[in-house]
This record gives sequence, structure tokens and C-alpha cells, in this order.
Amino acid sequence: MRKNIVAGNWKMNTTLAEGVKLAEDVNKALENVDAKCDVVICVPFTHLASVNGVINADKLGLGAENCADHKSGAYTGEVSAPMVASTGAKYVILGHSERRQYYGETSEILKEKVNLALENNLTPIFCIGEVLEQREDGSYLEVVKSQIEEALFELSAEDFGKLILAYEPVWAIGTGKTATDDQAQEMHAHIRGVIAEKYGKEVADNTSILYGGSCKPSNAKALFAKPDVDGGLIGGASLDAESFMGIVTAF
Ligand code: PGA
Repeated sequence: MRKNIVAGNWKMNTTLAEGVKLAEDVNKALENVDAKCDVVICVPFTHLASVNGVINADKLGLGAENCADHKSGAYTGEVSAPMVASTGAKYVILGHSERRQYYGETSEILKEKVNLALENNLTPIFCIGEVLEQREDGSYLEVVKSQIEEALFELSAEDFGKLILAYEPVWAIGTGKTATDDQAQEMHAHIRGVIAEKYGKEVADNTSILYGGSCKPSNAKALFAKPDVDGGLIGGASLDAESFMGIVTAF
């Protein structure tokens, strides 16, 4: 059966020293809690190796926030999936709306990134989600279906089964405006249906689908109580160990 997962997405925040301290704080808090979900932190590339050295991998997973769409070579400034894996990281966020919006990441590019992540035994946390205009004009279910189809439906069922999905309505990211638990459930059930149509019910039932977008301790419980919401991808609230743990313990 699918896992419940709470994953932090630190984005472009914290210096190395601050990041190591935050990782240590989360790691320490987890030692004293019987977490009912897997817990992951996705951190800036510069922090990966150091953070890996201070966390207990049995309790806290480590991921990157992106990886390159090429394996190696003349791509100045890029960080490849093998490089990420070599730090000890096990996860990588791909297709975050900030990458799509500000860095022009298309489904074609994301396809390459997913393949390279899987080849390097990294678990992609693959993000999908509509913008406000698409929510308002009613096309949001179709938009998210297309995002999944375009980037992921060339995968074998076996490879698709290795993914974690994260539904992040763009209008809810960093805005304080959370999707209601019913809005999240509607979309998550839709996503599971889209997966089931292509890969069958078993693969769909086994896929963890996280919600992201202004998730915090005060709303996590209601969101996670929904049958198709299997956890959260947490931005702002993951930058403080106490608030992050408040979401972890919502399960
Ligand atoms: P937020 O970000 O929790 O700050 O809204 C979520 C995300 O972008 O992953």
C-alpha cells in the first residue's frame, strides 16, 4: 500500500550553517516522536552532502530540489542526477511550478529529468498543478491530467510505480491561500483515476499523492484526513523545525 509522506521543500533558503542546523533540529525532533509517515527534507544542492552527514537516514530522508536534464558534460552551473545521488540523497523534486514558470521547464525537459533520476535510483517527487486562471475557468482537472500524461506516461508501469506525485495548485503556493480539503480531495481522486486508466488500479492505489501549497500545522490534519491525500510537500512551514514537526505529527 502507498505510504504517507511529509516532505520539506526548503527552496532557495538558508545558508549552509543554517541548513545544517535546521536538519539537525528536525532529525532530533524525530528521535522523540513516533512518526506515522515517512519524513523527507529537500534542500539546496550546496547543503546535500553536509546534511547527509548529520541525519539518521532511517528516520529522515534527504532529497534535492531539482536535477539536470543531462547526465554530464558542458552544462555550466547544472547539477546532474548522478551528482545528487553521490551525496547520499534519495529523492529529487522535479517539475515544481517555480521551475516551470521561472526556468522554462517543459514536459519534454521533465521527461529527461525523470528518466535520469530513476536511472540513478532517486525517487522523483513530481509536481503538478494549475494556475489561478485555470482553477477559475474550470480547466484545472484537464490541465493536471495533461501535465501527467505529457511528462510521465511513457514510463513503464514499474517505473511509474517508483514516483511520488505532489499536487500543488500554483495559486496556493506561498500565498497563504490553501486549497480546501475538499478541493484537494477532488483533485487527488482525479489524479488517481488518471493513473488507474493508464496503469491500472493497483499502481494507482500504490502511488503516494502529496498536497502542497500553504500547508501548515493548522490545516494539515484536515487535508491528510482525506482518503486520497497521502501527505504534503511543505515550503515555508518546513523552514522551522517546530512547524514542520507540527505537520509531520498531523498523521
Ligand atoms: P508553500 O510551498 O508551502 O510555501 O506554499 C509549497 C511548495 O512550493 O512546495
